[in-house]
Amino acid sequence: MVENRVQRRLLRNRFFPFFILALLLHLTSFPSKAEKGPHSRCITVDKAGVASAHREASRVGSEIMRQGGNAADAATAVAMALAVVYPQAGNLGGGGFLLYRQHTGRVYVLDFRETAPAASRHDMYLDSLGNVLWEKSRLGGLAVGVPGTVRGFYHFHRKFGNLPWETVLKPAVHLAENGFVVNTYIHQALRNAADDLKKFPSSRAVFLPHGSVPQPGSRFCQPKLARSLSAVARHRDTVFYEGYIAREIVKAVQQYGGILTLDDLRNYQAVERQPVEIEYGGYRIYAVPPPSSGGVVLKGLFNCLHAINPADYPFHSPEQIAFLTELEKHYFAFRNTYLGDPDFVKMPLDRLMSPALANDIVNRIDIGAPIPAEKIAPAEWVKPESQQTTHFSVIDPMENVVSVTYTLNGNFGSKLVAGSTGILLNNEMDDFTAKPGSPNLYGLVQGEVNSIAAGKRMLSSMSPVIVSRGGRVQGALGSPGGPRIITTLWQVLVNLIVYRMSLPDAVEAGRFHHQWLPDSLYIEANRFDPEVLKTVEHWGYNMVKSDHLGDVQALWRLNHRWQVCSDPRGNGSADGW
Ligand code: DON
Repeated sequence: MVENRVQRRLLRNRFFPFFILALLLHLTSFPSKAEKGPHSRCITVDKAGVASAHREASRVGSEIMRQGGNAADAATAVAMALAVVYPQAGNLGGGGFLLYRQHTGRVYVLDFRETAPAASRHDMYLDSLGNVLWEKSRLGGLAVGVPGTVRGFYHFHRKFGNLPWETVLKPAVHLAENGFVVNTYIHQALRNAADDLKKFPSSRAVFLPHGSVPQPGSRFCQPKLARSLSAVARHRDTVFYEGYIAREIVKAVQQYGGILTLDDLRNYQAVERQPVEIEYGGYRIYAVPPPSSGGVVLKGLFNCLHAINPADYPFHSPEQIAFLTELEKHYFAFRNTYLGDPDFVKMPLDRLMSPALANDIVNRIDIGAPIPAEKIAPAEWVKPESQQTTHFSVIDPMENVVSVTYTLNGNFGSKLVAGSTGILLNNEMDDFTAKPGSPNLYGLVQGEVNSIAAGKRMLSSMSPVIVSRGGRVQGALGSPGGPRIITTLWQVLVNLIVYRMSLPDAVEAGRFHHQWLPDSLYIEANRFDPEVLKTVEHWGYNMVKSDHLGDVQALWRLNHRWQVCSDPRGNGSADGW
């Protein structure tokens, strides 16, 4: 496998002059058109691009920029469109993190993560014997955190957008009102969630309009959501946090066992934070700080690369897989033990992001002899992931760039649509530690530092990333996948920066994931050489084969153009011009 790749690369180099000639001919004949890239979900564009989890949303972002909108306008339009066409994760009733790099070089982080309602209690998901009541943090009213998406995007757009707020919401209203064609991917996601959606008449009315989920090829309209979106377009975030939408949300949540109040909504604030900055190989990577764990973990992982010679670890060799796995294991143990909401807990961030800690870890690693998870910290159990968060990346002609990851948490969140609004509510409360030592939806075994408290933000793995080089933006990327978000991004960045792959190759390459507990190595086995996997397994890793890890939406500078890629693992699409 390694040799094949090296051979392929050599071949590519031999044909490089012909490639350049062909490229020049091509560029001169089609000066400003998106071109299909080396795999079907990649295009190359001159000026503006969007990669997102749905074709319609990417098209909306691209159109908004054609109308003179900038990346902030386009990102807002994409977020609102995804709430319509990608309802399992795109949202108004959830939250997330946004990274924005202005063409001036200023980088801005917006945390619009959900918060625990004021009436939340430390043990609210435990029964009288101290057992965790899982359904309560995942389904229905009590699972719902105070949503941040609408306030977040309103805040961001007011600060950086060019076009009127109403204009950028228009395409989403149109998609909700006139519908979009259901693809098999969304059809299947709805089928998987149908039993839970049926439990709430408001959700059933939206997602099972004639008693069953909409068929592939049919047009799916959401008139209630269209009305809510037009109300938000006209009355801004106020209608969502204080107006009729707020009242509908509170009523629905309380009817199904929740504790959210009008005060919770009124008091919700999106927070501006400082990015985490990572230097490696001439690149500067910007990532998001707590309450996301993404930036801290990525910085620790890159610190470890400074302590080795990457040439000793050929791409997808057993040594590389084992080495990166050991690093992931350590930093996830730290993540789960030390990270939480910075407004509530003290965290040893300097230590976690220090080169000294990275050196200690690298020195402990003995390739071929995995360190058992319980030797890193006290251990326990697991559960598999679902796939429902979404990321999108946008670049505009000025080179303003936006990287956003937002979510309802699980597939269709709490499954609860708020009354007549057509708006699905999140189940983000499950990201808190319901009980130290008990795994959450993503199998994460987390500590007291991430326990529930009124007004607190639950620790996240969402990690939008922006990369710059020589003072100019180089790229933007992100993914869904719960804790797999961080390891997915780490490996794509390593492919790009260390192994100097093209964006399509870097995204397409097989991935693996270790999150400390469970002590298992999740791996996309069909994307690796079986002989390599045999060696890794023989070394003692508990290997769990996964169909796919992550769903990257990325863009990357290629000479004077942009490659825009939507992961072949998902159902997204790139658009641009
Ligand atoms: O914030 C987090 O880490 C999770 N709520 C993200 C969930 C997610 O990525 C689901 N998608 N697979």
